[in-house]
Amino acid sequence: MAKVSIIGAGSVGATTAQRLAEKNLADIILLDIVEGLPQGKALDIAHSSYVLNFNSTVTGTNNYRDTQGSDIVIITSGASRKPGMTRDQLTGINAGIIKEVVTHVTCSSPDAIILMVTNPVDAMTYLALKQSAFESRKVIGLSGVLDSARMAYLISKELKVPVTDVNAYVFGEHGQNMVIIPRLNSVRGTPLNKMLPKSVISGIVENTIGAGSEVVSLLKTSSAYYAPSAAAASMTEAILTDSQEIMPCAVYLNGEYGLKDIVFGVPVRLGKNGVESIIQLELTKLEQKQLAASAKAVKELIKSTASA
Ligand code: 2OP
Repeated sequence: MAKVSIIGAGSVGATTAQRLAEKNLADIILLDIVEGLPQGKALDIAHSSYVLNFNSTVTGTNNYRDTQGSDIVIITSGASRKPGMTRDQLTGINAGIIKEVVTHVTCSSPDAIILMVTNPVDAMTYLALKQSAFESRKVIGLSGVLDSARMAYLISKELKVPVTDVNAYVFGEHGQNMVIIPRLNSVRGTPLNKMLPKSVISGIVENTIGAGSEVVSLLKTSSAYYAPSAAAASMTEAILTDSQEIMPCAVYLNGEYGLKDIVFGVPVRLGKNGVESIIQLELTKLEQKQLAASAKAVKELIKSTASA
């Protein structure tokens, strides 16, 4: 079986471990610096294996030695947002944590694919890429799969159609500057802009951008984890099964979409090598402008990470 290590046994990390175990896709190592926490959560998940009929092993640890030789390392460590905070405000605290985690990961799993979940995810993925010196196709951030899932949910609710009939695509920053192009979102092939008036679409866009904050303000002490872990598990599954599925992910761009030296959310094909290819969609001048504005915000964040 493949080996997946999850760094950080908070709600996102542990729920991702649970989802992957239930998919019976890999043996899982759950690591955290807090003693007992990863061991307790891993044991609890492992106890469910008989009932849920999976053979994946789930092991909790505080030691990177146990993560050695992982195929995929999912990084969830760091602080999460509190009500009223933006993801960007986590830069200072999380940059130091990610540097340390990635140093460990690079030593113990030099051939792994890194899946970054920690926020602000575009900047943290860039940091992980530089810190690890891994090939860029092997360092991927979780962004658009989660944002698209939220958009799809809102579209299905508005149009009263099954969410499985919706095709949603959200690009750009996983933050206030995410890029939503209505015509690229559809229901069984019919673009959103042909189904709903502009004002309603604007509401859906606004609610998609604010979806993560909405959950934070309800939970108060935690940010979202069911949808983020679902997104992390589905990206991991695509890589482990070499599915070649196209998913919007935060990846390194070297000229694609006219953007260079940046980690940014665009559609990519995921497979056993990580990013198998970057899909270049034809955008109108206006859409390209929207993308460039989002990229500018991400570049600034990357710059502030370097000095954090
Ligand atoms: C979210 O959007 C935590 O960034 C994550 O919920």
